[in-house]
Amino acid sequence: MARVEPVRAHVPTVRVAPSILSADFGDLAGAVGRIAPGTDWLPVDVMDGHFVPNLTVGPPVVASLRAHSSLFFDTHLMLSEPGRYLEAFRDAGADGCTVHVEVGETAALIGRMRELGVRVGLAANPDTPFEALEPFLDRVDLVLCMTVFPGFGGQTFIADVMDKVARVHEAALAGGLTLDIEVDGGIDERTVVAAARAGANVFVAGSAVFGREDPLDAVRGILRAAAGRRTGATP
Ligand code: DX5
Repeated sequence: MARVEPVRAHVPTVRVAPSILSADFGDLAGAVGRIAPGTDWLPVDVMDGHFVPNLTVGPPVVASLRAHSSLFFDTHLMLSEPGRYLEAFRDAGADGCTVHVEVGETAALIGRMRELGVRVGLAANPDTPFEALEPFLDRVDLVLCMTVFPGFGGQTFIADVMDKVARVHEAALAGGLTLDIEVDGGIDERTVVAAARAGANVFVAGSAVFGREDPLDAVRGILRAAAGRRTGATP
């Protein structure tokens, strides 16, 4: 009788993603180059001063940075009208785009990102419930559970979000989904442990990396703190 192979759940890579929002914008390529040995993933925070109360970068900055880095560009679009800019970010060199479920039109935005061939991410603010994300879990590659209200670096981690992270993780396991679960906001060597235990695998960290004397060492320290703490992680 043939041996039945057990169904192996997808084990996503645990990675620390340094948020350039806390980097020296006057030396962005240099700042990114210094942390590159510690990661393969770069979150780019795009803010429109409308969906969030801050203004950051657009496609031209992504295009310039692209010329200096081969990291995976995870563009987090904190925009009220992300659909207007998806193609421009793709053309600028974005590998992944993440839109917020709060802006609506989610199915259409996911379809457009698929058409454009970028990796598809869906984000939720801390006070947005799991139920808002649930209908889309099997149509995206990444779910971003914000652990601060977006707009600024250096804010305090909202631990209450961990319930939502755990529900996304359980749903991904139950559905056999290949899904990255990302958290962003107030992540450091201490808070990353709770996020990993809840089931997250991508940890965005800004001030806990670029606010440190040695950003590369900080990335590695957060990764050490996370590794092996992830629920379902194979020891
Ligand atoms: C906030 C941004 C975050 C921020 C994280 O809206 O989306 O990526 O840069 O910064 P820290 O890690 O300092 O909270």
